[in-house]
Amino acid sequence: MRVAAIAGAVVVVGLIAGVVVLSGVLEPDYDTSVVDEQTGAPDQQLLARGKYLARAGDCTACHTSEDGGAPFAGGVPIPTPFGTIYGTNITPDPDYGIGNWTSADFYKVLHDGIAPGGPLYPAMPYTSYRGLSRADSDAIFAYLQSIEPVPVPNRANEVPFPFSFRPLVRGWNLLFLRDELPAISAGTSDEWVNGRYLVNVLGHCTECHTPRGMLGQLKLSQSFEGGAAEVIHAPDITPAALAARGWTANDLQQFLAKGIAPQGSAYGGMYDAFHHSTRYLTEADNQAAVRYLTGDSPHEAVALKPAAPALAETVRAGRSHYLALCAGCHAAQGQGKPNVTVALAGNSTVRNPDPHNLLHVMLHGLEQKDFPDQQSRQAMPGFADALDNAQMAELANYLRVEFGGQKGDVTSAMVQAGR
Ligand code: HEC
Ligand code: HEC
Ligand code: HEC
Repeated sequence: MRVAAIAGAVVVVGLIAGVVVLSGVLEPDYDTSVVDEQTGAPDQQLLARGKYLARAGDCTACHTSEDGGAPFAGGVPIPTPFGTIYGTNITPDPDYGIGNWTSADFYKVLHDGIAPGGPLYPAMPYTSYRGLSRADSDAIFAYLQSIEPVPVPNRANEVPFPFSFRPLVRGWNLLFLRDELPAISAGTSDEWVNGRYLVNVLGHCTECHTPRGMLGQLKLSQSFEGGAAEVIHAPDITPAALAARGWTANDLQQFLAKGIAPQGSAYGGMYDAFHHSTRYLTEADNQAAVRYLTGDSPHEAVALKPAAPALAETVRAGRSHYLALCAGCHAAQGQGKPNVTVALAGNSTVRNPDPHNLLHVMLHGLEQKDFPDQQSRQAMPGFADALDNAQMAELANYLRVEFGGQKGDVTSAMVQAGR
């Protein structure tokens, strides 16, 4: 926290000059559009398109409260290293929502992060939405104006000084807001170009999957190489890394559409992204997103290497923990059980060179989740109390070596850090 405070103070001093000189540069004015003057019955096609785009952009994730809040009425806490910022009311309520806005006000939020009331924190991912076309912004705006207005006031953010001084964000924007985000893969096909729009812009996938610097900015040189902003880390999803964990284009399509694939199931922040957003993509858009994830010339998925026949003593010890605690649900050879749970043999969480998520799931378990096609998964219990650090490391190493083709290099200290 002290480091952050010092960094903050430096930013205050350093950026204010720039802000004063350059404020206004990032605040172009936009024309209003036909959607503002619509009278009579709204254009159903436009509204349907807006609804689809709002889903592809997963606006609900941060604007609909999980404890029974009305759609888009706000109040969603977003923890950041700089304090808790709350998603706002974006229903058409004239007092508490965006009922009095024009389509130009709305576009300015998505493109520049500037609302009529002043600059927004980049917890609102305008860093990604900046690439949205004006037509698509207008469609989302028309849709949001058509939903039920909800008179719920916004929650005050809990952001300490200096970050509570909003004009700082203008300086942040000068430093870090870019017109275009780096591409995840190489490609030129129309499908790839569409996929780039769906992933880089609407899906704002980079906001979780890219590491961040001291000031919360995306480290663009490490785009999609894995982000650690939440307790469950978002893994490296660059094409080579996905292929190294065995993902094929078909598996990825299934993962985005159904949340469960041969490589594993969606959990943590990815479950939310899947549940509110990626599962609604049309088949063509799903394929385009995956084309962009793999590139026009996909890497060959790497098959799992069989483990050496003579397992080290410490790894063999893990097998008995596995049979006692895990095999009942994940099956003796880690092959999983249909309608119960996923395979751990070849699972991408187990194949990940970074054992962070594996340890997290083993220690703390997972919540109950629903998937399409009446697939529901019971909660997985956490095993923090069942095994001590050394035993937990033995189990993790057994899984990594036997089912993941990884090194058995998890230590007791790493388990302790995950507790
Ligand atoms: C990752 C979380 C997140 C997602 C996803 C997100 N928002 Fe936001 N949004 C926020 C936060 C947080 C704020 C408030 C920021 C602040 O207080 O500075 C905000 C503010 C806004 C505002 C300004 C409201 C006002 O009263 O000033 C609008 C409009 C908005 N978002 C629209 C959208 C739309 C449209 C989408 C989907 C395309 C979207 N948001 C997706 C987090 C998010
Ligand atoms: C009561 C049944 C149950 C037991 C016992 C159990 N799990 Fe799970 N496990 C699940 C469920 C359900 C999921 C959620 C994934 C899904 O949708 O199938 C899961 C998911 C996982 C995942 C995340 C992988 C993914 O792709 O979702 C890992 C890793 C995991 N389990 C490891 C273990 C280990 C190691 C043990 C023993 C210490 C264990 N599990 C014991 C039911 C169980
Ligand atoms: C809110 C944060 C968040 C967002 C937004 C997000 N992800 Fe994820 N993603 C995660 C987390 C956390 C995991 C690890 C858990 C899991 O495997 O489900 C993950 C896992 C994945 C995986 C599986 C990787 C593996 O090897 O297990 C893929 C593929 C993926 N994400 C793609 C995407 C794409 C494409 C988007 C944008 C449409 C996206 N993610 C948006 C957080 C996010």
